[in-house]
Amino acid sequence: MKAITYAKYGPPEVLQLADVEKPAPGDDELLIRVRAAEATKADCELRGFKFSVNWFWLPLRIAVGITRPRRKILGGYFAGEIAAVGKDVTGFTVGDAVFGSAGLRMGAYGEFAALPSKCTIAAKPHNMSFAEAAAVPLGGLNALHFMRLAKIKDGDTVLINGAGGSIGAHAVQIARSMGAEVTAVDKAQKAEMLERLGIDHFIDYTRENFARMGKTYDVVFDMVPRSSYRACMAVLKPGGRYFTGNPRLSVMLRTVLTNRFTDKHASFAFAGETIEELDTLRQMIEDGKIVSIVDRVLPMGEAATAHRLVETEQRNGAIVLSIGEPEETENEM
Ligand SMILES: NC(=O)c1ccc[n+]([C@@H]2O[C@H](COP(=O)([O-])OP(=O)(O)OC[C@H]3O[C@@H](n4cnc5c(N)ncnc54)[C@H](OP(=O)(O)O)[C@@H]3O)[C@@H](O)[C@H]2O)c1
Repeated sequence: MKAITYAKYGPPEVLQLADVEKPAPGDDELLIRVRAAEATKADCELRGFKFSVNWFWLPLRIAVGITRPRRKILGGYFAGEIAAVGKDVTGFTVGDAVFGSAGLRMGAYGEFAALPSKCTIAAKPHNMSFAEAAAVPLGGLNALHFMRLAKIKDGDTVLINGAGGSIGAHAVQIARSMGAEVTAVDKAQKAEMLERLGIDHFIDYTRENFARMGKTYDVVFDMVPRSSYRACMAVLKPGGRYFTGNPRLSVMLRTVLTNRFTDKHASFAFAGETIEELDTLRQMIEDGKIVSIVDRVLPMGEAATAHRLVETEQRNGAIVLSIGEPEETENEM
């Protein structure tokens, strides 16, 4: 089968289209015929082994390969079809259209991926193409996790810092569906996309500082690495809730102090990426509450270009790789 492989950590050019052995599913595994995979920030970070939060470096390096990557095929988030099921697997049938997360197992940059059936995999929304569906799990699972933690009520004011990214753009839609008034912070080129997603207010971080605008919020959701914790706290109303997905060690310590000594609640979390959450997302998509935001779909041979676009943020929405022959993935629903 064809797969995008990498044999060493490095720039986008380390990604190579290669012929590799097709995986065989174990007794409790699914063989997925991958039709589309999102090129994510996490894929780029793993490829180059550069992380915005430094303390991730050592535990991840031990997990994924100290001198070179142990798993040669990247790709954590995908949409495709079930090609085969192991003998102990229940709940899936060959031919089912699915989407989901491969977790650290990865492998979605290959035409076939063998994944444990307990991975976060669910029926693909029937109203999305494979490319659109592949762009949902990363942003959607993480955003849903944080928006639920925030316990957003009708009328809450929510500031989303980094709203134009994969997670932020889904958080915008989920917070709106929960009845929040949403203020999005990102750069001007993402304003139009965010307005289409239903934001109430937009702040261009290259021109304005949200902490100096005299407004306060019930919830601050911060997805920007190395943002100012002090600024986020300053714009929280009394009793307000703060969530970050990029916990530096100093921020982790400060959340403890905030919770102990102030009337505000601060929290860092790692999304669990559960099947229940993915199924909730599917339902929200089919109910028209969430749309997929795809900037462009590239053939798998252009994986290096896809990574460059993601790394340099030359995108308005997800960059998706079409896996397999292009004519096989077009207009598939
Ligand atoms: N905790 C968890 O479970 C978890 C899970 C997955 C990911 N993460 C982390 O969460 C972060 C967000 O992930 P993502 O996939 O959504 O990333 P992303 O797609 O890169 O989104 C980040 C967004 O923030 C914008 N931005 C950059 N600097 C900013 C600033 N100073 N103020 C406001 N916006 C700014 C970026 O735009 P420009 O760069 O174009 O300005 C981009 O639109 C990543 O750092 C990732 O490592 C956490």
